Amino acid sequence: MKRLGINIDHVATLRNARGEFHPDPIYAAKFVKKIGADSVTIHLREDRRHINDIDAKKICSIKRLLVNLEISTNKYIVNKALSIKPDFICIVPENRKEITTEGGLNLKKNKKNLKRIISKFKKKKIRTSLFVNPNINDIRIARELNTDCIEIHTGHLSNLIKHKKKYSNELKRIIRCSILAKNFGIEVHAGHGLDYKTTKILNKIKEIEEFNIGHFIIGESVFFGLQKVVQKFKKILKN
Ligand code: PXP
Repeated sequence: MKRLGINIDHVATLRNARGEFHPDPIYAAKFVKKIGADSVTIHLREDRRHINDIDAKKICSIKRLLVNLEISTNKYIVNKALSIKPDFICIVPENRKEITTEGGLNLKKNKKNLKRIISKFKKKKIRTSLFVNPNINDIRIARELNTDCIEIHTGHLSNLIKHKKKYSNELKRIIRCSILAKNFGIEVHAGHGLDYKTTKILNKIKEIEEFNIGHFIIGESVFFGLQKVVQKFKKILKN
């Protein structure tokens, strides 16, 4: 069965809307683990719009909880992540004006820097991942960079499906990249914009071992409760 990583950033978004303590992302991290999450994902953004330094530190110190910390290549954030010591890191592009992570990394342009950052985390035995677009050249570069994993950006596929547009070419790109990465010995993950329908479609790709899902889970929970929503995703991943 594929693993489900739950991104709890938007619990912090809700908390920050009031500038107080509720809902608490630390409680959310423990709770999602209890109801079936295989890991928790948090993104320590440069502008700290949701998860902050104290949240990240506290969440990473919860016992027996696997934490995937998303970070940009910003020097200060990289050092912060090295000091927090999450179980996993996922390097993502970051742009202060974006609403969410809009695409994968520009691997070609940032090769040298990424290689240096990856080796720092690997030395600390932290699993490394790169958030990439479904592009064959990028998968080849990812191998050169010696990353443990890649996470394929599924935002474009999700948008096509949500807007009832033809998505077969984008799906084929994701399948080809997943197969190539797996052949290179890179573990394949997928994330961004996923809901029940898109997860069901991608679940058929046997090379994908982990999904990281956030906004839809937190949004859907407003109506049906976190436990029911997570159970529904677990059921999809069982098939
Ligand atoms: N994976 C990565 C690398 C991300 O940057 C994000 C968004 O922060 C997600 C997964 C989760 O995306 P969504 O909130 O759209 O499910």
